[in-house]
This record gives sequence, structure tokens and C-alpha cells, in this order.
Amino acid sequence: MSVIINKKDLRFTLKTDNTMYVIGVRYGKFPVHLYYGKKMKNPPVDYHSVSRGFEAYYEEYGEEFIPDSETMEFPFFGSGDYRAVALKLRNGKTGGDTTLFTYKNAKKIKGRVDIPGVPCADADENTETLELALVDEFSNCELKLYYTVFPESDVISRYFVLENNSDSEMSIEKCMSLSLDIPKADFDMVSFYGAHCRERKFQRQATIRGMQSLYSRRGASSHQLNPFMMLVDKKTTEEKGEAYGFNFCYSGSFLDEVEVSYYYGGVERTRVLVGLGQECFKWLLKPGEKFASPEAIVSYSDKGMGQVSRNMHRFIRKHILPKEPYANRPIVLNSWEAFYFDIDAKLMVAFAKEAAKYDMDMLVMDDGWFGARITDNAGLGDWYENKDRFPEGLKPFVEEVKAQGVKFGIWIEPEMVNPDSYLYRAHPDWILQTPGYKPLLWRSQYVLDMANPEVVQYLKDSFAKVFKDVSIDYFKWDMNRHLTTVYSNALPPERQGEASYRHILGVYELFRWLREQYPNAMIENCSGGGGRYDLGMMKYSTQIWTSDNTDPKYRTYIQHGSTFGYPTATMSCHVAHVEDCRNPRFLDYRFRVAMNGPIGYELDVLQLEDSIKNTMKKQVAEFRCYENLILRGDFYRLLNPVENGSRYAYYFVNEDKSQILLTYLQNEGDPKRTKFKLKVSAADKNSVYIDRLSDKKITGAELRAGIVVESDTEEQYSKMFWFCKE
Ligand code: DGJ
Repeated sequence: MSVIINKKDLRFTLKTDNTMYVIGVRYGKFPVHLYYGKKMKNPPVDYHSVSRGFEAYYEEYGEEFIPDSETMEFPFFGSGDYRAVALKLRNGKTGGDTTLFTYKNAKKIKGRVDIPGVPCADADENTETLELALVDEFSNCELKLYYTVFPESDVISRYFVLENNSDSEMSIEKCMSLSLDIPKADFDMVSFYGAHCRERKFQRQATIRGMQSLYSRRGASSHQLNPFMMLVDKKTTEEKGEAYGFNFCYSGSFLDEVEVSYYYGGVERTRVLVGLGQECFKWLLKPGEKFASPEAIVSYSDKGMGQVSRNMHRFIRKHILPKEPYANRPIVLNSWEAFYFDIDAKLMVAFAKEAAKYDMDMLVMDDGWFGARITDNAGLGDWYENKDRFPEGLKPFVEEVKAQGVKFGIWIEPEMVNPDSYLYRAHPDWILQTPGYKPLLWRSQYVLDMANPEVVQYLKDSFAKVFKDVSIDYFKWDMNRHLTTVYSNALPPERQGEASYRHILGVYELFRWLREQYPNAMIENCSGGGGRYDLGMMKYSTQIWTSDNTDPKYRTYIQHGSTFGYPTATMSCHVAHVEDCRNPRFLDYRFRVAMNGPIGYELDVLQLEDSIKNTMKKQVAEFRCYENLILRGDFYRLLNPVENGSRYAYYFVNEDKSQILLTYLQNEGDPKRTKFKLKVSAADKNSVYIDRLSDKKITGAELRAGIVVESDTEEQYSKMFWFCKE
């Protein structure tokens, strides 16, 4: 049982395999947070009120209950909690933005409550949900807080439904799905920052008293700051210490807030909020209407950052990712870095033939196949094949590709339009554009207004037509710019604050449609690389193009950072760059760097000598040996490249610990030849393993004590071990 309701004491306990979360209700009215941490028989459940002056209290309860110092379950605006709040609601009739939500009732739900319009985690037979209903007596608005428990992943998710039962319009001015008050300060915050081609670089900083936040105002979860973050104890390492991980199942603008409260004479507070925020989101709730927030998640472990990552990995693999469409993950040959826009039917068939010859599974035809799209400044939005390049049409072309013995994948970028397109000329009012302000450009494109159902319908109709009877196994769904001048012509002025959110709802609607139309096809998500590397996209996409940067020197950092919040199974990695691949040493290094996730190739193989292509064929076979470990094994980081001068090491281990794949990667040469002891703590201490790559024997106990790897003087050096039980 993972949700336990004690109605007598108004005590609610959520249990996962290794953690527990306890909620109380002070004075029968205020849901307060009592404990979250390691599962134990008698957790230290306690109220956390302290008065230090200048902190308001309710007349009835006096200084025994100080909202500003209490650990609140769901803080709202105006009633004595001066910290950042989860919900700010403005009453249309009075103009006031104070609310006071108090406890009404609680119930347990088998499974979960779905959230209309936005992706959320799938429940299974072990999933249970606590519903806490609160009411604001003055307005009669009802707030239902949901806590869904995924026991085997040690993950709890949070979302809410707000129902306006008043006779006034209410406006949601701030919306945070998750709020967690921890009665402690002095955490480190671990987060992932970057840019296009530099995604998700690990950073760890001490939190300061006051507010710190991660966010996107770009209408996409973004390359710049990922919504995933951790709060960790100062002493926490990969293997030891307390760590909390947070994420948001949403792909647009977001806000993660961490507020560390002022000094309370020994009593300290850290508040974490995760949600849509306030700058890019407002919502008008008319009488009788409901609003459901997207879902946010939290996981805790006292076994270090590595365990929180593994919790996230398990959760995403089990409850977020779509069912794998194929027995093996297709190893693709992608046309982009090989030819950019210069593609046609003949070339693609020749390319497919090469893919098949060297045992790659799928040709992915990237950008350049439709409309006037022969450069990036025309044709986006015009979804019909370019007749000069595909004179017979898509259907016979795809049949010919498949006749070579490979699957077929195709690139689309539905959310965008070039001004130089038939679509834009016919419907200039279909883009995001605020009246009176010129729309801005990036990559010569505007953003379509996906909040407008007509636009979404146009896209469905266009794709249905162009792909009619075409056998597609894979879509690469790209998105190459962020939102500006956000405004939807489909919404009245008073609802314009909803445009950014409704835009994403339109994007999700189209994703769902595509999945329904092609239930057996796989979607690879892409946003100029990993610009939407988030749980929302993962709900529809088996893998995500991790970054447009395929240079191992940057990739190791990008991949390392991505593994904190997301399973390696989602991390699409390609061996690329013709010149480097001509050098056997660099080709080998690129391949080993790529094997941090599902691999593919992205270079003009037609230019390459047979010997190199034969090496690639061997690589494909080698990847298949490890595939199960890489896609489904438990992942352990050993060396952080940010802290170890570019050296990155990690291993995968399968469930019965019979196989371990350990990789050491070193981008830079090291004249000092540093020695690293890599402890394989998940090895089975009672077993003997053989490293199948060197045929050397080693015991599980020795692996746990650590194997020594010495760095090399040369750049781009790697070492791999494949330990298999005897
Ligand atoms: C950006 C993507 O990240 C690339 O892989 C490629 O698909 C281009 N767009 C095509 O325009």
C-alpha cells in the first residue's frame, strides 16, 4: 500500500520502496508537510512553526502557527506566507488576490487521475494516488491536490485541479504544480545549463539565502536551462548522501524555484517549487470551469546523486516513454550532416543501399524533401514533396528505399513556417504575432500559432495527405526556434495570457494525432539537437537527438549532463564527421562516445573507403552485443568530466549483475598519465567475471574495490571493459 490515509489524525502517508512522505493538517485546516526522506518506522514528523517577529499569524491560532515559517504543502498568496507561492489567484469581482485554502477531505485513488491535454506518467498496478481537496471558503473555489506514488521508482508526482465554483471569473496568476518545504538549508543545487550545441552542462553551486531559479521564457524547455535539477547535501557524492531530484512533465516555458529562508535561530527552510510560473502563463477560469496543472515529479535518496538518477531513469522508462516499436533500436543512417539540403530520390536510394550493406537498419531522410525547401529560408509549412527531387512521389520512392533492405524515417518540423512559403502567404495570421509588433525571425522562420485549432488541423490534413499510403517507420520531429511576440489570433484579448500554454497544448495534440496515425512508427524528438530534452517530449518520443554537436570533445559533457535526469535509452548519439571517421583511432573514439545511448551514423558514407565502412559494420554488430545494457541497464557515473579535466567514465549493469559495461573516455591528452580508481560498486561480490574484451578474469570483490585506469598522453583516448559472469 503506498497511500495511507488516517482520517482520525488527519495524517497522510505516501510510501515508495525506499522513501516516505508524510502530510499533516494543522487545526484540521492547513495541510502541512511533516516528513520526506528515507522510509522508517517512526519518521520524525513534526510541525515547523517558529515566530521571529514580523511574521503574521491568524487570530484564532496565535503565534503557535506562523504560515511563513511552517512547512506548507501548497502555499498560496496573501495569507501570511511571504515566500514564493504555488498558487496566486485573482478574483475577477473583487480584484483581490488573497486566498485561503483549507482542508476539506481526502481520498485514495487506485492508479492516477489523468490530466487533460498534457502528457503525464502512465500508472501501473502499483500506482496509487492521494487526493487532498481544499476549499477557499470566500470564493468557493475548490483545489484538489494530487500525489501519485510510483513505488518502484521512488518517485512521487504532484499536480492539481482548480475548480471555480464561484460566480466570479478567477484568474490564475501563478501556477506551480509541486511545492516541497524542506526544514533545512545549506543545500547545493545541481543544474544543467547550456546553449544550442552545448546542452546540459553540469553545474553544482551552493544555494544562497533568498531565491534562485531555473527557467525558460522561450516557449520550449530549452537548451539554456533544463527543468531537471537536484538539491543535494554539501557532502553528497554520486554514491552517498542525501539528494532530491525534481522534474516537470512539460515542454514549454517553466519555472523551478528554490527559496532558502532567512535565519530562524537554528530553524531553516528550503522551499522548492516546480511549475508553469507566472511570466509566461496566466489562465482565466470562468465560473464552473476547471484547470488542471501539468505534472511535476520528485524523488529522494540517501544514496547519492547516482541513485536519484537511477530512480529517474526507471521512472521514465516505465511510466513515460512510449512502448518500443521495434525489438531492436534502429541504427539509423541520417542524411543531414552528409548532404544538408542537397538530397533527392536517387541519392537517398543510393544512401539506403549503403546503410543496408553495412547492417544499419534505417535511412532517415532529413530536411530538404518538401516544398521549396532547398535552403533554410523557404518552404517550411508547405508539406508536399518537392517534385523536382522526388518526381515519382514519396510512395514509390519509399518502396524503393525499403527494397534495399532498410526501414524509412523522415524529418518534419510542424510548428514552423518560412515567410517564403505558400502557407505563410495564404495565412499570415497563423503565426504568433502581437498586434502592432513585427514578428522576429530566427533561421528565417516564424512560429505557427499552435493555439489555433485551424493551424493544428491544417498540419494534420497536410501530413495525412503527403504521407497517405507511404510506409513510414520513424519521424524526426524538429523545432528550430523559440517563441516571441506570443499572441494567438484564435483567442480573445482577455485570454492572451494563455497563448503560450495553449500553444504547447496544440503541439501535444499534434503529437498524439501522429502517434495514433502511425502507432508502429518511432518518433525521434529534436529541437536543434536537445532543445526540448524533457519529460513532455519523452511521452511521445522514444529518443531525442541529444545535440547538434557531434564533436566528442563537447558531446561527453552534453551526454554526461543528460544522464542525471534522463535514461541513456533516450539519448540519441551519432557517429559523424567524414574526415575524423577516416582516422581509425578517431572513428573508434567517436563510436565509443556514441555508445552512451542508442547509436546512429550521420555522414556521407558514399565517400568512404570500404575498409572504413567495414569497421562501421563491425561497430553495428558490437553495439548489438551491448544494446540491452545500454538501453535497459542501471547506469552509474564514475568520473564527471566537468570535475576531472574532460575524463568521463561510467558503467551499465544489468538486473542480475551478470554483465557490466564500463567505459572510460578522455578528450584531452594527459602528459601526467593520471591513475583513476574506478569502483564498480554494483558488481556481484560473490562472482567471478571475465572481461570479454581482454579475456582477463576479475572477481566481483575486486571490481567493487576498484580497477585502475590510467589516462593517456594522446587526445581522444578510451578504454572499455565488458565484464561478464563466468
Ligand atoms: C536541426 C537539427 O538538429 C538537425 O539535426 C537537422 O535536422 C536540421 N535541423 C535540419 O534542418
